[in-house]
Amino acid sequence: MYFIAPSILSANFTRLGEEITNVIDAGADWIHFDVMDNHYVPNLTIGPLVCEAIRPLTKAVIDVHLMVKPVDRIIPDFAKAGANVITFHPEASEHIDRSLSLIRECGCQAGLVFNPATPLEHMDYVMDKLDVVLLMSVNPGFGGQKFIPATLDKLRKARAKIDAYQRESGRRIRLEVDGGVKVDNIAEIARAGADTFVAGSAVYGAAKDSDPQRYNSIIAALRAELATVPVAAR
Ligand code: DX5
Ligand code: ZN
Repeated sequence: MYFIAPSILSANFTRLGEEITNVIDAGADWIHFDVMDNHYVPNLTIGPLVCEAIRPLTKAVIDVHLMVKPVDRIIPDFAKAGANVITFHPEASEHIDRSLSLIRECGCQAGLVFNPATPLEHMDYVMDKLDVVLLMSVNPGFGGQKFIPATLDKLRKARAKIDAYQRESGRRIRLEVDGGVKVDNIAEIARAGADTFVAGSAVYGAAKDSDPQRYNSIIAALRAELATVPVAAR
């Protein structure tokens, strides 16, 4: 039910392959892949070439978070590179419905990402094309920022919209949260309705040494917190 998605943004890039296999072996569910273009966000990261390089290392879902503008040109490249989920920001696409359709036509799951001040209404008329709704709990562009508390109320609102849609359609949409997720707040975030948790610095910042077991304890600690959430709130 609950998925943990370490963001490789905070991984040691000199040993990226090991960093990925180690978190998956430690029990992570998805690999969160942050794509930044120094245009939509003020940072520059990784593209389809890196996605293609890591694809053979794991069967886990590669969750590509596009922080690029425009989005449509790069979508087929990520699909070919082995992405499973592709999400983008509504502000970065001229035609949101078209971009979602393009992702699905390319054989991937599609999602919209909401910045802290972006209203949730962008999802209202495209629910049937969404597999994931991702709420940013920091402003996009950098790892290691502090969780913005107003996200909790927004998560409750997104959860209500998704639950209403799921009851009507029988189709599941995941509610993902990204930014400042730590052991000490993940349970509260889950109680507000999230089911998929991106964690960059909490996982990869935990230890920079070369002990391959070092991710087991942090992922176990995140899961132990999630286990405290009452079943009725899941
Ligand atoms: C920020 C990225 C996040 C980031 C999260 O723009 O989208 O995925 O890596 O990092 P933490 O967990 O350190 O806030
Ligand atoms: Zn992200």
